[in-house]
Amino acid sequence: MATLTKKDIKLTRTETSKLSTVDFNNLAFGQVFSDHMLTCDYKDGKWQLPEIVPYSPITLDPSAKIFHYGQSIFEGMKAYKDSNNDVFMFRPLENVKRLNISAKRLAIPEVPEDYFLEGLKALLEVEKDWIPTNEGSSLYIRPFIFASGKGFHASPADEYKFIICTAPSGAYFSGKVNVLIEETYSRSANGGVGFAKAGGNYAGQFYPTQLAKAKGYQQVIWTDDTTHEFIEEAGAMNVFIRINDTLLTSPVSDRILDGITRKSILQLAEAEGIKTEVRKVKVSELVEASKNGSLKEMFGAGTAAVISPISGFGFRGEDFEIPEQDQSFASQLKQRIINIQTNKTEDPFGWRVKL
Ligand code: PLP
Ligand code: COI
Repeated sequence: MATLTKKDIKLTRTETSKLSTVDFNNLAFGQVFSDHMLTCDYKDGKWQLPEIVPYSPITLDPSAKIFHYGQSIFEGMKAYKDSNNDVFMFRPLENVKRLNISAKRLAIPEVPEDYFLEGLKALLEVEKDWIPTNEGSSLYIRPFIFASGKGFHASPADEYKFIICTAPSGAYFSGKVNVLIEETYSRSANGGVGFAKAGGNYAGQFYPTQLAKAKGYQQVIWTDDTTHEFIEEAGAMNVFIRINDTLLTSPVSDRILDGITRKSILQLAEAEGIKTEVRKVKVSELVEASKNGSLKEMFGAGTAAVISPISGFGFRGEDFEIPEQDQSFASQLKQRIINIQTNKTEDPFGWRVKL
């Protein structure tokens, strides 16, 4: 099959740009959206050519299967601009591959990699001016696919929409992140869809997270669904734990998202001479480490959250504070990854992709 190129992607420009109405110095996360979006339809058994159109609402039939059976997946990525106005993406191929892993699990047709990658590049060319340059801000990119095909039959749809839209964004968390270790509810189960970025995984977390928020925590730390003894991941992040000078994180499984930030941190830490261990961590080990002072740090890692230090955790009605470290692994690794993402340093790993 011939590779899609930029000229195959029809562009319809907006007549009224919203760019001048946006305060780039006060960006929340994912609240304002750029002028255009990429859209691509699956029908008649194949993905049609993608197009770039003005950002606008979508009309769907009330029987569209997304509304009833939740066939919906998404990705999260970011674009950055350096001081020369050059634009960079971070490991975009990883997002394409993961989108298609999610697609397969949700019985959604896989998107050709070049439709995603060439489509995204063409969109970023058009939306270049929407990429923030202030420290801590970036253009958050949200590729997603959902079932637009009609019918109440509980089976995969025959039509889908693949859309990429973008939102100039600031930090995901506005303050300290205090987490609750969850033992009653589960995010995912063996054989389930936890490893996929399926919309339903997030819907299922909202209620337990609301309960945790009412108690003063920002996120839930999920434990394994069988024993609730092992730490798995947070609502929108993988979790790292520093005990003494070793950085620990759970292995990924069919219950845990294979985070791109997580795997980048593991490689970066190794390059920085930080000892890492990918192994299951018991909640009891975390509690014990907190009590004996060997728990030095805990942080979440994800595209939206980057690296977000965790200030404390709640478990069985008790709160455990994590004291701030002067030279934390979290700040060291965060600076390293941001410097690579924003073209401030060499990229020995080949992660940065220039537009
Ligand atoms: N875990 C969950 C449940 C997430 O939603 C995310 C965010 O994408 C992550 C982990 C981190 O993944 P990544 O680093 O690829 O963004
Ligand atoms: C991301 O980090 O990009 C995500 O998709 C997490 C999301 C829940 C904001």
